[in-house]
Amino acid sequence: MYPNITIDEKKLRDNCDYLSRLCNDHGISMLPVLKAFAGCLPVINIIASCGFPRIADSRIENLKRMRDLSQKKVLLRLPMPSEAEDVVRYADISLNSELKTIRALNEFAKKNNIIHKIVLMFDVGDLREGIYYRSDYLGMIKNILSLEHIHLYGIGTNLTCYGGLIPSEAIDSRLASIKEKIETTFPIQLEIISGGNSSSIPLLLKGKIHPGINELRLGESMLLGRETAYGTPIKNMHQDVFSLQAELIEVKTKPSYPDGDIGMNSFGEKPAIRDEGLMKRGLLAIGKQDVNLNHLTPLEDVRIIGGSSDHLIVDLKDQDYEVGDHLSFSVNYPALVHLMNSEYVHKPIKK
Ligand SMILES: Cc1ncc(COP(=O)(O)O)c(C=O)c1O
Repeated sequence: MYPNITIDEKKLRDNCDYLSRLCNDHGISMLPVLKAFAGCLPVINIIASCGFPRIADSRIENLKRMRDLSQKKVLLRLPMPSEAEDVVRYADISLNSELKTIRALNEFAKKNNIIHKIVLMFDVGDLREGIYYRSDYLGMIKNILSLEHIHLYGIGTNLTCYGGLIPSEAIDSRLASIKEKIETTFPIQLEIISGGNSSSIPLLLKGKIHPGINELRLGESMLLGRETAYGTPIKNMHQDVFSLQAELIEVKTKPSYPDGDIGMNSFGEKPAIRDEGLMKRGLLAIGKQDVNLNHLTPLEDVRIIGGSSDHLIVDLKDQDYEVGDHLSFSVNYPALVHLMNSEYVHKPIKK
């Protein structure tokens, strides 16, 4: 069945093993981030069987699908107050930064007679989620500690996602000093100091992660074998765990320039098309509804020239392709996320 995003099980396992060993060697526990799989259990089971004690996703709906797995579930995106009941039910741990939400979690945890663990997020300069690290946060900690059904399990930060802030020892030390300040003010020990995501891999490889950091939450590096501070491939990891295959539904030689006045295309944009004379063109059964076509790279010698919601058009460079043939593409992280979310795309696992 096509189109499909093929998952190479062995390569995925290799990537998980490599990264978890790298983390362990530096006293860090790796939290695998599964959000790219849109809750697709056959793929998630592969990672879950690699020996991780905890697994993470940004959507509570996905964690709900994973409820029968034995690992502790971590909700990555700050909960909406309106979903607090589900968060308490389907996540063992959630990342938080707002007292109102934490109080809502406390209420539902009390109702269910459980303790919900939270990792309090601090913004150390990237300017997405978290309490700004220079602000006065001790009053909030006091309030959290007074909640009987909330356990302040740790603190964390997220880097390079909005502001592009590159992790460094100095940036890490901002989080480490928050831990110290909390632990010297209150009689508690924080178990988790969650220092960031795949953008911390270059620092990890240099052995320069701050010793206070004991967890990294890793998604893209595990799946695509690439760190995200500079976008470089990680040695000894696979960059081709995933590939897209799509089927040719038309192969015809036609002019490359539209014949008449040009207005808008189906996405409301004025198309920028070059006149390259006659061209052997292939039409593939996949479109912008499934993936941003700019995020695909052909693995054969063909060139993407455009598409619409249900079609991808390629220049076949006069090669002998026929209707029914399949073309392969490599995918970047956004493409992987979109393809996994499309119910029109099949997800076969290559054993
Ligand atoms: C809070 C949080 N932590 C970790 C990650 C994982 O990031 P990456 O895929 O760069 O490792 C994400 C994004 O998916 C996130 O939102």
